[in-house]
Amino acid sequence: MATTKPFLDALRGDVISPPPCWFMRQAGRYLPEYREIRSKSENFLDFCFTPDLALEATQQPLRRFGFDAAILFSDILVVPHGLGQDVAFKEGKGPVLDAIHSPEDIERLDLSLVGPRLAPVLKAVEKIYASLNNKTALIGFAGAPFTVALYMIEGRGGTEGTKVRRWAAEKPNSFEKLINILCDATATYLIEQVNHGAEALQLFDSWAGLLPESQFKQWIIKPNRRIVDTVHAAHPNVPIIGFPRKAGVLYRKFVQETGVQGVSIDSTVPLDWAAEELQSICTVQGNLDNHLLCSGGEVMEREVRQILTSFKNGPFIFNLGHGVLPQTPPENVGRVVDMVRGAT
Ligand code: CP3
Repeated sequence: MATTKPFLDALRGDVISPPPCWFMRQAGRYLPEYREIRSKSENFLDFCFTPDLALEATQQPLRRFGFDAAILFSDILVVPHGLGQDVAFKEGKGPVLDAIHSPEDIERLDLSLVGPRLAPVLKAVEKIYASLNNKTALIGFAGAPFTVALYMIEGRGGTEGTKVRRWAAEKPNSFEKLINILCDATATYLIEQVNHGAEALQLFDSWAGLLPESQFKQWIIKPNRRIVDTVHAAHPNVPIIGFPRKAGVLYRKFVQETGVQGVSIDSTVPLDWAAEELQSICTVQGNLDNHLLCSGGEVMEREVRQILTSFKNGPFIFNLGHGVLPQTPPENVGRVVDMVRGAT
């Protein structure tokens, strides 16, 4: 049954023309109005945990561009914070965590803290949902376990995941304990997001592409499937988008084996391959290159037209292959949205 929200219809398998459109990291530093409100909080987590600020940050890109979906303004690293790990965001350095080094560190993680620590995020979900018009859908999200574990073990981003990959290979039993804790915390957190108003969910597995097939099955497919199953046991109809970034040909197995309704694809995935192999089994979301969005002009426009043409015959949501870069001119975003809207 069609809803008034094209984004949700697309996720249920309808072919919508023009396709619904939103961008990963549509809120954030490329918008002067974000930098303005962000400058009032020293600490990024405090900012995320202030529901009125999270509401405002979520709404800013909707006001400018009228996207078809709002995404909760938060971060994937609120879950390690919720489990009791120290998480900070340093200017110019990104996230810095008090890294986990040993199986004993895993024992110290405390699932009972997650509910109280993440309560302000759920308050924000409630406020955002109440603020939306009847055409805009609300996406809740979390990081998938391997990607979150990577930050928890490396202590920062910008690594090749050397420590996490070694731990997973050398001590799979203790690594599995961490992954299972993250599955439980994440599934509960996502179920609560739906209870508070999220209408669809996205699981960000940004570092999935680091792993060979055997490890991909164990640390990407299995935990994503466990979360999808747990969320669907509580909310059978909530659509879930997976994002095993840089998974290459394994995107197809990921979709088949996790049971997601949609898959977000990175910009390296060939369009014709994705239309053939992925759009036949789920809704595809993607995949304009975020660097081409940043540079703009004819090269960007040609790419947008190619993406629209490639995916026009199946269920599709226009998005980027990865988040908007902070140096992106907002007018390039406006230009792309206009082009997508014109694609009837
Ligand atoms: O608009 C949206 O998409 C919603 C908000 C959102 C943020 N982070 C806000 C944010 C979402 C969905 C995320 C997801 C996220 N966070 C991912 C998965 C997607 C991806 O990009 O791969 C990851 C890996 C993170 C972890 C993270 N958070 C990093 C590595 C960084 C530092 C790099 C950077 O962009 O600064 C962050 C910080 C962060 N998360 C910012 C924002 C707006 C910038 C912080 C600031 O404003 O000071």
